[in-house]
Amino acid sequence: MQLLFNLFIVFFSTFLFSTQNISAQSLDFNAGKEIFSQNCTACHEGGQNVVVSEKNLSKNALEDNDMYSIDAIINQVTNGKGIMPAFGARLSDDDIQNVAQYVLNQAETSSW
Ligand SMILES: *[C@@H]1O[C@H](CO)[C@@H](O)[C@H](O)[C@H]1NC(C)=O
Ligand SMILES: *[C@@H]1O[C@H](CO)[C@@H](O)[C@H](O)[C@H]1NC(C)=O
Repeated sequence: MQLLFNLFIVFFSTFLFSTQNISAQSLDFNAGKEIFSQNCTACHEGGQNVVVSEKNLSKNALEDNDMYSIDAIINQVTNGKGIMPAFGARLSDDDIQNVAQYVLNQAETSSW
C-alpha cells in the first residue's frame, strides 16, 4: 500500500512537472534537484555511483539493493551507509524528503 502510494506520488509529481504547473509538488521537485546538485553530485553525478558503480541510482540498481522506496532512500540519506556519509545533521527533514523524491522520480522515469 505504501509503495503504491509512493508510486502514485511519483507519477503525480511527474505529471505536474511535465505540464509546467507551478505547484507545491513541482517546487518540491526543484528543491530536491537543487539539494541533489549541491550535496550528492560529488559521488552521484547523473545518477552514477563513483565509488561502487553497480550501486548507482538507476531503477534496476535501486531495486537490486532494496532501495527502491522513498523510505529506504530517506533512511540511507539520513543515516548514511558504508562509505556514504549521514546527511541527517546537515539537511532538514524536508530537504531529505525532497531529495529522496527527486532520486526516486529520476530512477522511475529513467531521467538520469
Ligand atoms: C546542501 O544543499 C543545501 C540546499 O541546497 C545547501 O544550502 C548546502 O550548502 C549543501 N550542503 C553541502 C554540504 O553541500
Ligand atoms: C547501474 O547499476 C546497474 C545494476 O547494478 C548496472 O547493471 C548498470 O550497468 C549500472 N550503470 C552504470 C552506468 O554504472
